[in-house]
Formats: sequence, C-alpha cells, structure tokens
Amino acid sequence: MAIYRRDPSVCLLSYLHFRPLPSEKLQRSPEMQRLVTLTSRLRTVKDQFSRCRRRCFSPLPEQAASVSKDEEPSFPALPYFDYSPPRYTGPTAEEIIRKRKEFLSPSMFCFYKKPLNIVHGKMQYLFDENGRRYLDGFGGIATVSCGHGHPDVVRAIVNQTNNIQHSTILYLNHAIAHFAEALASKMPGDLKVVFFTNSGTEANELAMMIARLYTGCQDVISLRNAYHGNAAGTMGATAMCNWKFNVVQSGVHHTQNPDPYRGAFGSDGEKYAKDVEDIIRFGTSGHVAGFIFEAIQGVGGIVELAPNY
Ligand SMILES: Cc1ncc(COP(=O)(O)O)c(C=O)c1O
Repeated sequence: MAIYRRDPSVCLLSYLHFRPLPSEKLQRSPEMQRLVTLTSRLRTVKDQFSRCRRRCFSPLPEQAASVSKDEEPSFPALPYFDYSPPRYTGPTAEEIIRKRKEFLSPSMFCFYKKPLNIVHGKMQYLFDENGRRYLDGFGGIATVSCGHGHPDVVRAIVNQTNNIQHSTILYLNHAIAHFAEALASKMPGDLKVVFFTNSGTEANELAMMIARLYTGCQDVISLRNAYHGNAAGTMGATAMCNWKFNVVQSGVHHTQNPDPYRGAFGSDGEKYAKDVEDIIRFGTSGHVAGFIFEAIQGVGGIVELAPNY
C-alpha cells in the first residue's frame, strides 16, 4: 500500500502479503510449464546465491548450526506462558525440505544448515514441530511486526471473510474506504491518500512511478545497504549484491549509507547529506524524481540512520 499526499510528491509505504495458489488447470497451462522451466534455470544461480550469502550475513547462524550433536547448547529459560499449541501432526522437516527443493524456486533459501520447522505462532511466541517455544524477536518479519494469532487481528480477518471475501473497486463497499480513512487519520500532515497494493515491492514500484510521472524526472536517489523489493524498479533501488540479479537497472543513484556504526562518516549526519547533494549535482541533470529510504534499515540489519541526517 502506498500513502501519499493529494499532490503525489511524498509517499509513505507499507504492505500486505498476498499470494494466490495456482489452480490445477493453471499448473498444466503452457505459461506455468514455461515458469517451471525458468525456475529450473534459476537453480544454476543457487550456488552463486549461497556464496554471496556467506559474504553478506553474520556468521553466527552457521556457527550455531555447527554445534556438534553431543554438545547440548544451553538456552536461557523463557518466562511462563499459559498456552499449549495444538499437537503437530503434519509432515516432517525432511519431507518439507524435499518438497521445497522439488517444487519451489531455489531463490527461496533458508538460514541454518538445519532450519527450524515452525508450525504454530501465538502472540510473541513461535512453536516448532516438537512444541518447543521460541521468542520471536521480530514479532513477524522485520517490516510487519504484529505478532502471531492476536485475537483482534484474527477476529477482524474472520469477520471480513465471513461477510465478503473479495469484491472489486468497480463496485462500492464500505470496508476499503473506511480502512483508508482510518489509516489516513494516523498519518502526519497532509499524507491522506491511500493506494492499497499486495506487497512492499508493489508499493515501492508505485511510489517510484508516481514520483517520476509527477516530476517528469527519471533519476531516483537511494541509500547503499537499502532493500526496497525485487521487481525491475525496486531491484534497482535496492543496494545489496545478494538481492540483485545481473539485469539492467537504470535511473537510481546510491549514496553513502548514513550508518552511524560502519558508515564512511561515522555518525556525522550532515556529511552524508552532503553526499546526496553531490550525487544530484554531479550524477544527474540537477533534478530528481525522489529520494527513497527506510527510516530504519530493516533487511540491512535494523540500523537507525545517523543523527541529523
Ligand atoms: C523496507 C522494505 N521494503 C520493501 C520490501 C519488499 O516487500 P515485499 O517482500 O512484500 O515485496 C521489504 C521486504 O522485506 C522491506 O523490508
């Protein structure tokens, strides 16, 4: 979803996930067959991916995974939680791994040599297939931290689905207008217009397109170490080698990342801001469509930007 001002020069983004399952007919269609062929070609980039991964992520998960079988790792005790997950009767981790390898894109990799099989979530906790409880530090994923199975969220989803699951914007229904109004009431200033999309990638693609159409400029400024999505434009705005394919990505300039810990100018926000000015002066016509950044870099390591940036 993108939220923007009536004159669309400023956008604020968030997203919801939606992935329809292909029907049997669709699975047999020539398009789907082509997709399967493409997926198998993608397998060839898998090794490249895992090499990049080793270079770019913390070695801690790999170290944790390499604890030998007889060395029982010691876990801190979790506080009491008055809840027991339902008994898990689904497939084993091995079976899931086999099916993932056979039917899913190799671009979907796991952290850890022996990945957790997470089968249930409740509030801030996750449960594995043996009922072992884990504190979920993200509370979901880095960008959607609303916990698991919160009764208010579950009730709202069930009520809406019981009432009507899907309609089209070509007819009227109050839910989309009320939801947009409720969101707009939480936004500062004149950020009052909502455009719902199905993912963060789409929201960012839309934001960049709106900015380009509105300003008549092509150039967008983004930060190094940023993650903005995996479609054509947003992959260009993303600045991490392990989330980029070797395809044409034009019109985005990546400035110094104002990372107060590892950045070139330490925590001197103004020096990083000067780098943005330099890129506009020396790398563009002097006019840009917009500047895209995360207020706190998520995929890049949950890092706040330098003060005064
Ligand atoms: C800051 C940010 N923007 C965009 C995205 C892309 O969202 P999606 O995976 O829903 O396309 C992500 C995903 O992690 C993200 O962290």
